[in-house]
Amino acid sequence: MKQVVLVTGGAGYIGSHTVVELQNSGYDVVIVDNFSNSQSSVVENIGKITGITPKLYSFDLADEKACTAFFHKEHIDAIIHFAAYKYVGESVEQPLRYYKNNLYSTLNLLTAMKEHHIKQLVFSSSCTVYGTPDVLPVVETTPVKPATCPYGNTKQIIEEILRDVCHTEHEYKVIALRYFNPIGAHPSALIGELPNGVPQNLIPYITQTAAGIREYLQVFGGDYNTPDGTCLRDYIHVVDLAKAHVKALHRMQNQNMEQNYEVFNIGTGKPSSVLDIIHAFEKVTGKVLPYKIVSRRVGDVEKVWADTTKANQIMGWKALLNLEEMLASAWNWEMKHNQAK
Ligand code: UFG
Repeated sequence: MKQVVLVTGGAGYIGSHTVVELQNSGYDVVIVDNFSNSQSSVVENIGKITGITPKLYSFDLADEKACTAFFHKEHIDAIIHFAAYKYVGESVEQPLRYYKNNLYSTLNLLTAMKEHHIKQLVFSSSCTVYGTPDVLPVVETTPVKPATCPYGNTKQIIEEILRDVCHTEHEYKVIALRYFNPIGAHPSALIGELPNGVPQNLIPYITQTAAGIREYLQVFGGDYNTPDGTCLRDYIHVVDLAKAHVKALHRMQNQNMEQNYEVFNIGTGKPSSVLDIIHAFEKVTGKVLPYKIVSRRVGDVEKVWADTTKANQIMGWKALLNLEEMLASAWNWEMKHNQAK
């Protein structure tokens, strides 16, 4: 029998790419998504890529009644929990909305896991839990520092909740993947990053600027303590990131976990500045990207990148795609998506 994986936020950016990799690896997928930052066409496009249109439920996981009703209806073997609000800047402006959404949905899922004897969970965590690290690259044992924004704090709090739950639920297997900065799109260009409204993340803003939808990119801060004065991040291809989830499920199902709650960094281990990204994008696409350096964005961390040795050695996962491939796929996606409109 095929294992059934619930993918919350499965119509979203990372979620949709993960659903493709799960289906390609033989899992049955059920998506729950409230389309707060995604579109239902994504689910059809997953069907075009894999030949299988996943089952879809549309409701808000923070709604306890709806969540309970769903688990009474569907048999689920494992959960991958993406559904969450995810913008650093927005979370500074709307902290309560972030805490309510991100925490209630996770608590409802954990309650359902207990009731329905579901024992495996992969959680979308983030390098944001490291706050402003003293030593780089960060390893999983690098102390978690105070979060720089409410969004980051929700990830820290949920990691603590998962650790506590695993402490008493010995049969549970939970893996938190700390993502660095996912960018790029599926090679089919049928799915990619599809933010509602004005993009808040760097790459969709760049591709929309290059496509003429935005006038120029604002580079937030040129006076950081970095080689070119702009922030450093560890950008990772979303397809590589999606594959890490399949490896995490595989570990929970086929390997002896050292502890029933484990954490892995998922990045490339290579830092790039905002200006590095602009220049690489211009090289890959042959376009000139208009940009202006403006003041710093509240909540931004100056620099963070990963040591990925643990994921490489223990999960047998490694990022394979380089920055040029990430940016070329993001640009393909933008062009194809605009043509389709
Ligand atoms: N940036 C700009 N201009 C923009 C958008 C972003 O200069 O219009 C800069 C940011 O200041 C930052 C870098 O580009 O230096 C990356 O910013 P993103 O908004 O793309 O990504 P963040 O690093 O802020 O946040 C992302 C995800 C979070 C995740 C975090 C972990 O949005 O969910 O990575 O670092 F937690």
